[in-house]
Amino acid sequence: MKSLSTVKNLLNDARTNHYAVPGFECLSDMYVRPILDVAEQQRSPVILLLLGCDVEGRAMHYLAGLIHSVAPHYDIPIAMQLDHATDIDVIKRCIDHGFTSVMFDGTALPYEKNVEVSARVVELAKPHGVSVEAELGCVAGKEIDGADIGETVLTRPEDVVEFVEATGVDALAVSIGTAHGIYASKPDLDIETLKAIDAVSQVPLVLHGGSDTPADQVQEAVRNGITKFNVYTDTRLAINSAIPETLKITEKRPDELSNIVFQPIHDSISKNVRSKIAMALSSGRV
Ligand code: 13P
Repeated sequence: MKSLSTVKNLLNDARTNHYAVPGFECLSDMYVRPILDVAEQQRSPVILLLLGCDVEGRAMHYLAGLIHSVAPHYDIPIAMQLDHATDIDVIKRCIDHGFTSVMFDGTALPYEKNVEVSARVVELAKPHGVSVEAELGCVAGKEIDGADIGETVLTRPEDVVEFVEATGVDALAVSIGTAHGIYASKPDLDIETLKAIDAVSQVPLVLHGGSDTPADQVQEAVRNGITKFNVYTDTRLAINSAIPETLKITEKRPDELSNIVFQPIHDSISKNVRSKIAMALSSGRV
């Protein structure tokens, strides 16, 4: 039986072997099985990303507890990461519940404060063997409901060495032209800046805003230093797109309804996971 892996270990292998480990946001227990099943079929390592709001109270046990109990039954490396944390108490609680990685999001803070709090998170996490990711610059974007998330600030290669050294983080999320959510216009990733960052960075690099980013651009980013590729919105849209099929089932099969009603949603999440694993070039790496 295998226990959960750390993000640090997964990304170090990805950096050496030029692929990215896909990270999928899990909003509830329903997400976990299709993600892990497809990752294992594709022989891909995988990171399950959980937001603080999704593990409040008892939800921690339904989601983190579930992941802990099923992960040893899969024959691939799996990590569990708290994503976009801004609250130290939430970070401490997740460390206590066996997360193997936390991402501190200091993008709304001035640079010096981002350094200070990221370093504090490293101090808290390291004694527990928990990896830490922080973000330099800001990947902005839009929620599905259209609400704005921050303002884009591209990562400056000249800040990277100092930031990593001062904080001690294990992985660095960079802003090179992706955005969270669905793009208003086609993105144009700044691969030259990514190359410059990768050339100096002491730690592996992470791409947020994976949804709706053209596959060729993601793969170009992976070939040039991205080692973790985060996906959220496209999984939610995959679920939404399966609803009409679910409704058709309810018309046709009242006898078996309770057995099969979630199947189209499961299939749609699986299809999305398969396509993101292909973009991350992570298939067959286990
Ligand atoms: P998307 O919603 O664009 O996939 O971004 C996900 C993300 O970066 C989570 O950290």
